[in-house]
Amino acid sequence: MCGIVGYIGDKQALPIVIKGLERLEYRGYDSAGILIYDQRKKEVYFEKQPGRIKNLTRVIDPDTPGTLGIGHTRWATHGQVNKANAHPHYDCQKKIFVVHNGIIENFREIKSSLIQRGHKFSSETDTEVFPHLLEELIKEGLSYEQAIIQSLKKIRGSFAFLIFNKDYPDMIVAARLSSPLILGLGDKEFILASDQTAIGLITNKIVYLNDGDIVFVNKNKYEIKSFLSEDTKNYEGIIDFSSAETEKGRFQNYMIKEIFDEPKAVEDTLRGRLLIEEGDVKLGGLDRVASRLKEIDNILITGCGTAFYAAKLAEYFFEEYAQISTKAEIASELRYKMPVVSEKTLLISVSQSGETADTLAVIKNFKTKGILTIGITNVVGSSIARLVDAGIYSHAGPELAVASTKAFLAQTVDLILLMIYLARQRKINVGEAKEILTELDQIHKKIQETIVDNDQKADSLAEKYLFAKDFLYIGRKYNFPIALEGSLKLKEISYVHAEGLASGEIKHGPIALIEEGFPTIIIAPQDSVYEKTISNLEEIKARKGKIIVITTKGNKSLEKLADDVIYIPETLELLSPLLSIVPLHLFAYYFAKKLGRDVDRPRNLAKSVTVE
Ligand code: G6P
Repeated sequence: MCGIVGYIGDKQALPIVIKGLERLEYRGYDSAGILIYDQRKKEVYFEKQPGRIKNLTRVIDPDTPGTLGIGHTRWATHGQVNKANAHPHYDCQKKIFVVHNGIIENFREIKSSLIQRGHKFSSETDTEVFPHLLEELIKEGLSYEQAIIQSLKKIRGSFAFLIFNKDYPDMIVAARLSSPLILGLGDKEFILASDQTAIGLITNKIVYLNDGDIVFVNKNKYEIKSFLSEDTKNYEGIIDFSSAETEKGRFQNYMIKEIFDEPKAVEDTLRGRLLIEEGDVKLGGLDRVASRLKEIDNILITGCGTAFYAAKLAEYFFEEYAQISTKAEIASELRYKMPVVSEKTLLISVSQSGETADTLAVIKNFKTKGILTIGITNVVGSSIARLVDAGIYSHAGPELAVASTKAFLAQTVDLILLMIYLARQRKINVGEAKEILTELDQIHKKIQETIVDNDQKADSLAEKYLFAKDFLYIGRKYNFPIALEGSLKLKEISYVHAEGLASGEIKHGPIALIEEGFPTIIIAPQDSVYEKTISNLEEIKARKGKIIVITTKGNKSLEKLADDVIYIPETLELLSPLLSIVPLHLFAYYFAKKLGRDVDRPRNLAKSVTVE
């Protein structure tokens, strides 16, 4: 939700800030704005525009000089999408400029007291109270630093701020609480941004800022203080991906590139973790909690959106193979539930970004109860990665399309590895584990085969079914979460209604939707529930619905029954979701593209949901 970037150094700030915003655009694209300070003329230049960053660059002189800049790309929370509500926001004198990611929950009361003191507001946003509050406190006699500290203490909510004050023209001040913010350390230059992809523009050396940190950055140095505690320890790191991974390369969109990256995401996530001969896995991130994990007798697993569907899959895996009672819960619900927990409960949180507000809130909640927490995240050093007791990274590489694809496969692989780890501590024998690991080791090749076999097919099926306004996706057991994920993908990027269901549920209501021509996508690899799923297929066919079925290569028996058949390679039942999801990602992509949708930036969405 909203991306912010700031630069200070010797280079021209404008191209760096714009490029940084482009990399952060996945976080929100309702409007964009920048501020550049020209040290020679001592002039501030700022511009904002509704819509995408390209709307902003159209109206900016690309030669605007200045070696300090801040920028913002917005996902609207308070106030409509228009120019006035775009960032940066400023005080009455246009001296203090602020870009903000997060929400100021008590902005109404602060705003009305500032209005009573004569402040004039020009937007409907929560953010605008912040520069006015700073202005007011400075007017009351506080130093700039104290005014910032006191303002941060007065506001409630979540924030990552970048602040520029014309009276301190060599400095950007940044602060964060519950919204992501990273400092990049260049050579006599610094960059601040919501995530590593923007930082990578000038450096790979980073400092993760903690909740409560305030950073004073000028060209030659930075200083971190905290408005929450005296003791701030900041974790320094190195960006673990190459800049090329953030480019589209030969692909038209990030989403299709990321689908084609699925085999690599899986291979990279498995690298160095399989001990096939021992029938075991090596998960270094769990070493420090290994003995506590042996004692666990129930698991709660949580996440949002696609990450939740990976969690849902793990519910099946953990119960069946590790025989640990497991419940998958949506994070936005779990944070308000009162689940029964004990010292033998494990919380597993799944999140691509590692920043999702609801998922973070659940972890914080459970930590206060002393529950052991594990994180599955794709972003090294993200808030979740730093908060949990132990973790497993999913090495999918940067995922920039709003709709998650390759991260889902990498998360699923991590959860299968964790299942083996827990199962080996308990019940599964070496032989069983070895069989799974041997197949897992090769699965990236079958994912690749699935893409090659189905890319054109998905494209032509999208064309054939482009008339449809609704779809049902159904699957059983491991392929029920795949039906959920497949339908989410279609609806979020094409804006066509799609509903994912457990196959057995259709006769309890949804089958009433089926009429001549109504399309249902059925996920039916030849597995332990195949016959049951095919009965559901027959029920739909009897009502003249159109059927697209996904089944195992070599199973020709469905060609007469279904309107269209998609084949995936044969694999272990447990691993079939890693294959069956692939054609569904491709189908959603081509369907949305044919409808002319902006597949990477679907309307109303943002990739990183850092507000509740
Ligand atoms: C947003 C994204 C989804 C993602 C979900 C959870 O809704 O659009 O693609 O699955 O957030 O994000 P996380 O980063 O926690 O996996």
